[in-house]
Amino acid sequence: MTRVLRSRAWFGATGRAGMVYRSWMRSQGFGAEVFDGRPVIGIATSASELAPCNAHLGRVAEAVKRGVWQAGGFPLEFPTMATGETLMRPTAMLYRNLMAMEVEELIRANPLDGVVLLSGCDKTTPAMLMAAASVDLPAIMVTGGPKLNGKYRGIDVGSGTHVWKFEEELKAGRMTQEECFFAEGCMARSDGHCMTMGTASTMACLAEALGMQLPGSAAWPAVDTRRFETAQEAGKRIVAMVNEDLRPSRILTRDAFENAIRVNAAIGGSTNAIIHLLAIAGRAGVELRLDDFDRLARAVPTLVDLMPSGRFLMEDFCYAGGLEVVMKRLIDADLLHAGSITVTGKSVADNVGGAECWNNEVITKVEEPFQPAGTGTAVLRGNLCPDGAVIKQSAASEHLLTHRGRALVFDTAEDYHAVCDDPDLDVDADTVLVIRGAGPKGYPGMPEVSNVPLPTKMIKAGVTDMVRICDGRMSGTGYGTVVLHVTPESALGGPLALVRTGDEITLDVPSRTLTLEVDDDELDRRRAEWKAPESPYRSGYTWLYTEHVLQADQGADFDFLRGQRGHAVPRDSH
Ligand code: FES
Ligand code: MG
Repeated sequence: MTRVLRSRAWFGATGRAGMVYRSWMRSQGFGAEVFDGRPVIGIATSASELAPCNAHLGRVAEAVKRGVWQAGGFPLEFPTMATGETLMRPTAMLYRNLMAMEVEELIRANPLDGVVLLSGCDKTTPAMLMAAASVDLPAIMVTGGPKLNGKYRGIDVGSGTHVWKFEEELKAGRMTQEECFFAEGCMARSDGHCMTMGTASTMACLAEALGMQLPGSAAWPAVDTRRFETAQEAGKRIVAMVNEDLRPSRILTRDAFENAIRVNAAIGGSTNAIIHLLAIAGRAGVELRLDDFDRLARAVPTLVDLMPSGRFLMEDFCYAGGLEVVMKRLIDADLLHAGSITVTGKSVADNVGGAECWNNEVITKVEEPFQPAGTGTAVLRGNLCPDGAVIKQSAASEHLLTHRGRALVFDTAEDYHAVCDDPDLDVDADTVLVIRGAGPKGYPGMPEVSNVPLPTKMIKAGVTDMVRICDGRMSGTGYGTVVLHVTPESALGGPLALVRTGDEITLDVPSRTLTLEVDDDELDRRRAEWKAPESPYRSGYTWLYTEHVLQADQGADFDFLRGQRGHAVPRDSH
């Protein structure tokens, strides 16, 4: 190899500067030979006890290091921010861009030739991919793997999905608080991220579909020995990728994103993937639009029968053959760009050509799919969402996909929660619950509050679903007939801000429309009266966020972070 690696600007330097770069590293016990020009590989580890889904990544990093040493590289592990979904307030999504910014700068500022990205929980995977796309040094992802299936009283219970179910059981009086305490332990039996097809599993699969992690890597449970095998393999592979100069810009192409969109449809993936893929594409300089998701997904049946839309969990998906089977079936049905290059240096088709399915109930065939083509996540338009909204049909109720009802409007999710147990709440099964103030700028951070629980009165009456409309997001583990990501958001004066209780709203998913049945003159009058809510944020990160966050249809990235910035750092520190 004749190319001089970028780490030589540090470790190959002579004189005072070189001494500083090497000497301090040697305090860790590294011998002088590690500075001989071999590829220096960063291992970005988002392990944290505050992000329980990522807590085990230190052990994954050890396996990566073995592989890097084995292939003749010099591995250096470094910690990154970890956006834990369950603890962070007001929402981990507020911090995805901060993490992406941090990881980007850490990669660029340090003497790295390539990087292994260790992620797990929902936002950590997209944040790291956004960073890698902007720096464009060779990068490979290893997600931490899903938890083992939850087990409670003889049934499989899924992270997240069963939180909603248990809450309904509790509210309906069919479960006690003590039973819930017991069940919450049963849902979290091991290390790993949510084992439903929530956002973490979805993003792990999409990292693989994009070509950014090794084939088969997404599905191995966090505690499976093969999780560590695949991590070691990734360590070996990144050294080769540096030698081949195989960078994200060659992998994250328009074709790769189209593959990811179609794979997302086939796995019944999270609606959050739409926002994250738009953000990653924005970093990679790939033109991707919200409508691409509807158009490309329409031809794709849902093959994977996993919660929240279906029955099984990630462990079952793994044992059935994992994502390689899904991708092979899509390629055989001519639904993927088979030639896209991946981190293996080979095409998608080469990677998955040998995949075999061991359970056709978990991963169904294209000819007999779990759900037919066209029933995946739909993109809606209309006078209530001029820049789009989305609905996950597979998680919705068939009878509500075409529905007209009277709006009951809440300015915040908290306003709704304050009254949802009220037995006198003016609501019936046809009411459309409108929750606003949950967009990127308004909340801020676009939290997962859209699938508010049904009013207790309706649950007790046996109602299992109602139409909800919101400018926020929904957990990838959630379900219900919920219209999400309404854009522009209400805090910007989008039409959602103008809806009043009593207005009629028509949802027509087959025709992809969402209509506020109020005439334009009346809406103009309301718009003239509307006043933008005053932001309480004057300083700090949240101020930066509210000033620069883009809307959901652009991935809710910061305006100033879109695009690639490369890895050049012209000036020295000493
Ligand atoms: Fe971390 Fe679900 S909460 S993956
Ligand atoms: Mg989530």
